[in-house]
Amino acid sequence: MTVKQLSTLTAANQRLTEFAKVVNGQQPVRKVKSNEVLRTGIDLGTSSIVLTVLDEDNQPLYGAFEYDHAVRDGIIVNFIESVQILKRLKAKAERVLGVELVTACGAVPPGTGEGSSRIVTNVIEAADFICQQIVDEPTAAAEFLHIETGTVVDIGGGTTGISTFKNGKLMEVLDEPTGGFHMSLVLAGSRHIDSDKAELIKRDPEMESEVFAVIRPVVEKMATITRTMVKTEIPLPIIVVGGAINFKDFIPTFSKSLKLPAEKPVYPQFVTPLGIAMYDKKNRSTKDRD
Ligand SMILES: Nc1ncnc2c1ncn2[C@@H]1O[C@H](COP(=O)(O)OP(=O)(O)OP(=O)(O)O)[C@@H](O)[C@H]1O
Ligand SMILES: [Mg+2]
Repeated sequence: MTVKQLSTLTAANQRLTEFAKVVNGQQPVRKVKSNEVLRTGIDLGTSSIVLTVLDEDNQPLYGAFEYDHAVRDGIIVNFIESVQILKRLKAKAERVLGVELVTACGAVPPGTGEGSSRIVTNVIEAADFICQQIVDEPTAAAEFLHIETGTVVDIGGGTTGISTFKNGKLMEVLDEPTGGFHMSLVLAGSRHIDSDKAELIKRDPEMESEVFAVIRPVVEKMATITRTMVKTEIPLPIIVVGGAINFKDFIPTFSKSLKLPAEKPVYPQFVTPLGIAMYDKKNRSTKDRD
């Protein structure tokens, strides 16, 4: 890694650490003025719905999330439940920040088409936001990481999204329906338990080495997906994000199979939701609206 790439990840790690301290808590990072420009991101994920709020300089202020099953493989399967969760998250964030959140941006996995963008917009609007735009998830992650040249792999609950960039230009954006849920399924199969129970065991830090031995082939498959799907040479650095990579052996295993070095930031599950908020360029509190 060059010094510039290293400092990119260091800066991202600082913002992720700030965000992780306040997420779902009772205090924002700092007090918010009533006329401040705020940016809100909404990530309707397979595993959780995350709401993030940044200030005008893209510094995290607050965030809230709830686990859900309203989205499957990046597609909303329960509209009403998604809206209810989002309304709760909005109310919580407004209570903690002391201002109303007016606008927001959402995201979809790449290549899911117009229809899925429209549904995400509808969920955001039904939760009483003005939806500014819908972006694709790995590109939002790259925005947060300030990647000019490189590759972002976002491995969530149901999907693996890949985007490659050269000199600030998006070269390729791809999506494959494999994620952390598939790791839980493999674990469930090997232990003859249901996937909900496997999910809990998978996240138990005490079980990590035992679990990783079972799910290692899924990680290797994710590396193979990345290698085979990207049509051109994979640009470096390769930054891997998403909740599914929360294992200490993930990056060494992934890098070895990919035969290229990969890196991860701290709290990788928050990178995409924070990146989505950066696209909400016109968010203001109500008091500042004309
Ligand atoms: N500590 C952990 N150890 C292992 N896996 C974890 C851990 N925490 C979260 N995960 C897994 O991460 C996945 C969720 O990641 P993320 O929050 O990035 O997904 P999502 O954005 O909801 O899904 P998608 O992007 O696929 O729609 C789940 O499969 C979950 O089991
Ligand atoms: Mg995601």
